[in-house]
Amino acid sequence: MTAPAQKILLSGSRPTGRQHLGNFVGALAQWLDLQEECECFFMVADWHAMTNNYNDLSPIPENIRNQVLDWFAVGLDPQKATIFVQSAIKEHAELALILGMFTPLGLAERCTSWKDLVEEQKLDEMRTYGFLGYPVLQSADILMYQAHVVPVGRDQVEHIEKCQDIAQKVNSRYGDVFRIPEWRLSQAPVLLGNDGRKMSKSYNNCIYLSETPQEKWEKIRVMKTDPARVRKTDPGEPEKCTVWSYHKVFTSPDRYEEITTNCRGAKWGCIECKKILADAVETRFAPAFDRREQLAAQPDAWKDILAQGNTRAREKAVETMDVVRDKLHLWGE
Ligand code: TRP
Ligand code: SF4
Repeated sequence: MTAPAQKILLSGSRPTGRQHLGNFVGALAQWLDLQEECECFFMVADWHAMTNNYNDLSPIPENIRNQVLDWFAVGLDPQKATIFVQSAIKEHAELALILGMFTPLGLAERCTSWKDLVEEQKLDEMRTYGFLGYPVLQSADILMYQAHVVPVGRDQVEHIEKCQDIAQKVNSRYGDVFRIPEWRLSQAPVLLGNDGRKMSKSYNNCIYLSETPQEKWEKIRVMKTDPARVRKTDPGEPEKCTVWSYHKVFTSPDRYEEITTNCRGAKWGCIECKKILADAVETRFAPAFDRREQLAAQPDAWKDILAQGNTRAREKAVETMDVVRDKLHLWGE
């Protein structure tokens, strides 16, 4: 299906449920471009989601559904990319176990999230074997598909570096078992929540892709603006305005000039400015919204699509594990 010259790329995300505009700008928009150029694997990391949710796993299936419905709706295409669920490919568990044998404890503990939750916040419920192994499992995800590239956010870079270290350690003793992957940082701006803080589910400041135009408007309507612009006649500083940072992403460049001038020159009110943004967002996501509705109306369509992705991913995983077992003198099948 794909020419061998194409780079192999893997990325994934834990199933957090409905995707918000921040997920779109930060990851999905890049994935859409990448699926045109590379042999892509996009994974729902449900085993990783267990690390901090093991006390209540019941929301995970619905989160997977909502997440992949949004992925398909924005245009991730199962004909172009392999979209799959981590826990469907049991080989990931086997490879993680094997990689764990090579992983120094210090390397696992040197993780920012481990340090933060376990050492600083003393969250004892996160002091688990599974959470310590987070980067090991992530390494298995990547090495399984012999990925050249892993597109990630800045917070994930340390995980990819650990993956490189572990893979190198295996390779230095047993020959070329794994391709050493590289990480690629997204150039995309980080989209803020409508309150001006980081967009995050836990802050309740997200705008979701699957919200109706009316719901999106309600959130844009109250979005944080330059606090110095109290009246329409007060000139604004767009750099201090969350709405403006959205215009930069979603509004066409020709309108963007006008918006900036109107703000600085106090030529219009913020509501007018927000309406233009709402229109731009609506134009961008209306087709996705329709596609999602159609897909959600067929109860098992999303599952069937994932099942195909799982099958394709498994073929590759089986291939890699044959090599791994062979080179590492393990029992073959
Ligand atoms: N840790 C990633 C996150 O929290 C998800 C993930 C799991 C991942 N396995 C991966 C990302 C492999 C890139 C490659 O978002
Ligand atoms: Fe922000 Fe627009 Fe108001 Fe300026 S006019 S402060 S850019 S919402």
